[in-house]
Amino acid sequence: MQRLSALFPSMKRIVILGTGGTISGLAGQAGDNVGYEAGRVAVDDLVAGVPAQPDSRLETEQIAQIDSRDMSFDIWRRLAQRVAHHLARADVAGIVITHGTDTLEETAYFLHRVFAPSRPVVLTAAMRPATSLAADGPQNLLDALHLAAMPEARGVLVCMAGQVHAGAEVRKIHPYRLDAFDSGDAGPLGYMEEGALRRLRDWPAGTPRGVAGLERTDWPCVDIVMNHVGADGRIVDALLASGTRGFVAACTGNGTLSSSLESALLRAQEAGIAVLRAGRVARGSLIDGSASRLPSAGALTPVQARVELLLRLL
Ligand code: SIN
Repeated sequence: MQRLSALFPSMKRIVILGTGGTISGLAGQAGDNVGYEAGRVAVDDLVAGVPAQPDSRLETEQIAQIDSRDMSFDIWRRLAQRVAHHLARADVAGIVITHGTDTLEETAYFLHRVFAPSRPVVLTAAMRPATSLAADGPQNLLDALHLAAMPEARGVLVCMAGQVHAGAEVRKIHPYRLDAFDSGDAGPLGYMEEGALRRLRDWPAGTPRGVAGLERTDWPCVDIVMNHVGADGRIVDALLASGTRGFVAACTGNGTLSSSLESALLRAQEAGIAVLRAGRVARGSLIDGSASRLPSAGALTPVQARVELLLRLL
């Protein structure tokens, strides 16, 4: 752990946990916004690249240095341990986590369910590597630092492209645009404007599940199966044979599945395998009233529902 501003010991502290991603990515040429390697710049150097925070003391920790497509249960376990450690410190005002955009919504939901913290845990990221002519990482990080320092802020938040999203609602909606995230029907929680938050909605709330069981190294296999034209039960049977303990069905429409896929999932459920139905459509929540005997995940996206089921099974 490195302490970056040791000069003002009485100031509030912000802990920045680095995990990699495009925000710490490097390309061979400044004009290259896609052919880069994620997870190359150390979190200390990212923090050194933004203007000093005159009223905060910053601490950094490198938790991982990966492209977030490779985010793993091992890294989540370590991240959760470190978040729990820093949230237990009375001198920490908030935590910032730098992350890749590709699986950010999964980590955000995971942290929301585990901690639902009364202080801010802010994930931030970038859509352009640090070498880009239009690098968005420094401003995103600066906004996240401002947000994490706000005494009134709480919950798992995502700060990108001047927008603040609730960790339980955020999703990646674009592979290239700088404003690559939204919050579905809920809309953003607010906007960062010159270091201030224009808040539109209340801070995220929730009941924290806590860290019990996360220390286990045998996290269960939960898989997503998607309904689509021609979907059938073969995938369910194949996954069961390979050790799957839970299924999320990414359903069409208002939670529908082909007869064959639904029958296979019902058989799995009757055999004691956990199953949740989530919607594969971009927005909205499944509306109760469906005749399905498979439980609904409501407004959760399939990847969020997978995290939910994983945490239930742990
Ligand atoms: C990643 O998810 O680590 C790479 C893509 C990104 O951060 O935008």
